[in-house]
Parts: sequence; structure tokens; C-alpha cells
Amino acid sequence: MSSLDVKKAVALANKAMSKAYVPYSEFKVGAVIETLNGKVYSGCNVENAAYPEGTCAEAGAISAMVLDGEQKIDNIYVLGNGEQLVTPCGGCRQKIREFSTPDTQIHICGPEGVRKTLSMEELLPFSFGPENLKK
Ligand code: THU
Repeated sequence: MSSLDVKKAVALANKAMSKAYVPYSEFKVGAVIETLNGKVYSGCNVENAAYPEGTCAEAGAISAMVLDGEQKIDNIYVLGNGEQLVTPCGGCRQKIREFSTPDTQIHICGPEGVRKTLSMEELLPFSFGPENLKK
């Protein structure tokens, strides 16, 4: 079930990015998750004076998703400014992986729209996930 078209997702990610609290890096990021059930969650990066303790936009969106009882990411949009691709950091790749399916798509966006779409396998090859813990 899909409730979100790409244009709407990018608009929501831009809105989320505008809320980022980034006094240290001054690098705003927004993230939007659409779950398999068609629910939508946003997140932005939130920094603090102890620099490494800041949280990424993806982590915020994942937290909102789990709090609402959803756990399967169908699409995730990650959006930032600048010319470079704003690809999820290593830690966020693992966080997304936890709630991914074989069909999860990761859309790397600029303010104008999607720049690149990756599968979870492309973003984090040979990943370690919940199945790897099975004995
Ligand atoms: N950041 C994210 O929120 N998501 C990403 O995918 C890449 C990096 C944040 C962390 C930090 O607040 C700022 O961007 C600069 O690294």
C-alpha cells in the first residue's frame, strides 16, 4: 500500500530538513520513511555541544516509526543540501538495515528531488542483520 508519491516525499523531507538543529556542523538533513503499511515518518538531525552525541535524521525517523508500532521500511528518503550525495552514514546504514526488507529502497535526495536510489544490499553489502543472530 503506497500513500506517498515521490514529489510529496521530497517535500516532506525538505520540511524535515528545515527543522534540523545543527549549530555545530551547519549541515541540515531531513529523512522520510514510508513503511510497507503506507505510514509516513519524518526525522531531522539534532546536534548538541558534545559533538559525537548528535543524532542523524534517519535515526529520528526510525525512532518515530518504531514508537508508532511500525517496523518495515518500504522507502526511505534522505535529503540534504549541496552538490554531493547525502548518503546515510555507516551507523545509519545498520539502523536502516534492521527494519529493511529485500525490497527496501533508499532514495538519496537534494532539495530538487531524488538523485540516486539504492537497494539495501547496495548500501550495505553482506550486512549483519537479525537473521544472522539465529542459531
Ligand atoms: N547526518 C545525517 O543526519 N544523516 C546522514 O545521512 C549524514 C549525516 C548529519 C549528522 C550531523 O548532524 C551532520 O549531518 C553532519 O555530519
